[in-house]
Amino acid sequence: MESSQATRNNKKSDYGMKKLITFIRNVFRHNISITAYADEYSQIAKTAKVHRFAKLTSTRLGEHSYIGVGSWTTCCDIGPYCSIGANTNVGLTPHTLDTISSSPIFQLKKNATGISWADKDYAPNILDTPRTRLEADVWIGSNAIVMSGVTLHTGCVVGAGAVVTKDVPPYAIVAGVPAKVLRYRFSPEIINRLMEIQWWKLSDEKITRIKDVFNIQNPTLEDLNKAFTQNEQQ
Ligand SMILES: CC(C)(COP(=O)(O)OP(=O)(O)OC[C@H]1O[C@@H](n2cnc3c(N)ncnc32)[C@H](O)[C@@H]1OP(=O)(O)O)[C@@H](O)C(=O)NCCC(=O)NCCS
Repeated sequence: MESSQATRNNKKSDYGMKKLITFIRNVFRHNISITAYADEYSQIAKTAKVHRFAKLTSTRLGEHSYIGVGSWTTCCDIGPYCSIGANTNVGLTPHTLDTISSSPIFQLKKNATGISWADKDYAPNILDTPRTRLEADVWIGSNAIVMSGVTLHTGCVVGAGAVVTKDVPPYAIVAGVPAKVLRYRFSPEIINRLMEIQWWKLSDEKITRIKDVFNIQNPTLEDLNKAFTQNEQQ
């Protein structure tokens, strides 16, 4: 009894120490709020931003992307120009469904209860969660949930409060529980051209030189071809 109490206290102080180290590290990082938490397996691009109370576990966050207030991401590969709204949960980890209890207290040596009755790990560790991929320019609305292992393809939009259980095609807008395609942002021709251009791979200098094209509503092929000349695509 005493030793289990001692183990629990040690785990709590480990956790407290990790939080303190993160807090101190964040004071020196301009792009991550001091109240956000990113574990040692996470990589945040210099031009990306992590807002208050966000929690990143084994997450790679690409250039010019942001994670909104209170959002959690687990085992995610997030591309450039992605916008993740507030209070989202991306990469939900599964518990076991075919054992008597779904509680990790029986299955994982380190788990959210702070106690463990497992002599080894019987379920996959959180870091083994199937990776969730967000390609480029993905927007996730507030309070949305994305199950682990899903791919959100380039340019897609997840509506506020949606629960995404399957891959979302490029430039689709999905919403609801479970999320379904409402419509596509552009015609197939425009989507194909955008996928060919891959503007999100251009340098900041090139993008800022042609930035006006990003404010044209419902751009035509002509608009795109004018802005993204052969030269600009290199
Ligand atoms: C999904 C979204 C992008 C709108 O897409 P849209 O194509 O313009 O959709 P519309 O407003 O024309 O609505 C189309 C239909 O979808 C429904 N709908 C729209 N958003 C929805 C949502 N989040 N969940 C469920 N249904 C939704 C509408 O009620 C409408 O239904 P109807 O055809 O039966 O009347 C938007 O509603 C949304 O959820 N944005 C996220 C906003 C947000 O979280 N911002 C935080 C800042 S990051």
